[in-house]
Amino acid sequence: MKVLVLNGPNLGRLGTREPLVYGSSTHAELVEQCLRAGHELGIEVEVRQTDYEGEMLHWLHEAADSSVPVVLNAGAWTHYSIAVRDACAALTAPLVEVHISNVHTREEFRHHSHISAVADGVIVGLGVAGYPLALRWLAEKDGTAEK
Ligand code: DQA
Repeated sequence: MKVLVLNGPNLGRLGTREPLVYGSSTHAELVEQCLRAGHELGIEVEVRQTDYEGEMLHWLHEAADSSVPVVLNAGAWTHYSIAVRDACAALTAPLVEVHISNVHTREEFRHHSHISAVADGVIVGLGVAGYPLALRWLAEKDGTAEK
């Protein structure tokens, strides 16, 4: 099984971006953690990050066409992009929404996600540890990982 981990705007700046909110791990370290988890779980993992909404939409279309499960942190698009939500709604394999910070304890505009209603599950507030947890759930659902 292959899984796409897709990160949206500003997540390439992890490590230097508001470390009190998002922690000190860099995006490169996040990628490393995901690849290590994929190796342990026996699944192929590819991690991508973009600041461009159109690029994210293309990646979601690609995942839909190839029935690849997605772990998505859409960053701020979560809260206002109907286009990202629509692309998520058209996915053909499971979708896990991840947020590094606990959006529910933050500003009110972060409390609503357009993605959650079309996601299979949501992991919020567990830092970058949320990504390997999402990968484990997908692998177990697929029957690839040993429990
Ligand atoms: C985020 C939360 C969003 O509100 C914010 O815009 C981000 C990151 C998170 O991972 O906690 O860019 O998705």
